[in-house]
Amino acid sequence: MSKPDIQPLHTDFGGRVYGIELSGNMDDHSLNFVRQAIDDYSVLCFSDQDMSDEKQLAFTRLLGSPEAEHVRFGNTGIVNYFGTVGNIQDDGSKFDNISANTRYQSGNQLWHSDSSFRETPSFVSILHAYEVPGEGGQTEFASMRAGYARLSDEMRERIEPLHVVHDYVFSRSPIAPVNPNHAASLPPVMHPMVLTNPVNGLKNYYIGSHARSIPGWSGLDSRQLLDTLVEHATASEHILSLAFRPGDTVIWDNRCILHRGTRYDADRWRRRMRQTRVVGSDKGVIPKPL
Ligand code: OGA
Ligand code: MN
Repeated sequence: MSKPDIQPLHTDFGGRVYGIELSGNMDDHSLNFVRQAIDDYSVLCFSDQDMSDEKQLAFTRLLGSPEAEHVRFGNTGIVNYFGTVGNIQDDGSKFDNISANTRYQSGNQLWHSDSSFRETPSFVSILHAYEVPGEGGQTEFASMRAGYARLSDEMRERIEPLHVVHDYVFSRSPIAPVNPNHAASLPPVMHPMVLTNPVNGLKNYYIGSHARSIPGWSGLDSRQLLDTLVEHATASEHILSLAFRPGDTVIWDNRCILHRGTRYDADRWRRRMRQTRVVGSDKGVIPKPL
């Protein structure tokens, strides 16, 4: 393969990577290139990957500990490292628009950072596309690092000392009922509002649909600030919209990126993507609240 290279996908963030085949057997040079690119670009797209679940999990382990998918774990206690994004079941059959699964997945159409509701949130998510709709079903990304950089000095000072409560039951129960075992496995957690990338020192705010409130603030004031900051990061000119092609693998940095799915007609189209995630570490990836 040719030397690794990267071309920007947006002015603020995002890159298309060439010359790398993702697998569990990558050489150190390629792996370090990917690690560095995650810190620098936040969203990476690798096309024409010859992927399988086995390869994806082996690659995931090169970046850290795989994260147990929380719905299955919360409901049954069974650890499973893959999430299926889209409307195709393991046996190949398709869920349609009115299925409970489609309704549950529509929660991913709100701007969010994966697993921000966990005590230790996700570092990166890795999503590989096998089947994609002919229309709709893009995944959109926005940078909370670029959003932070566009804030006034006054606003940066105002948000610096804050913490934010993240709560899965808060964000998801309006979309679809949360099973009581699942809810009990995910009590609300608190994270700092502002995170610093440990490698390049760049800061971002850290919020999204799971962000419920700011301790010590009224509900109204909390909502106003949290909503304003999401809108600030996700104005249309700041969005990177990716229309996956089969064979694309996308990696994004949940520490500083918001993402959301967009609608597609599940009666008409098949969409099958497999997702793994890497657990954030305590080594400054997500600093603990004071
Ligand atoms: C995800 C996600 C939304 C989508 O993969 O974590 O939120 O439908 N995906 O692309
Ligand atoms: Mn997601």
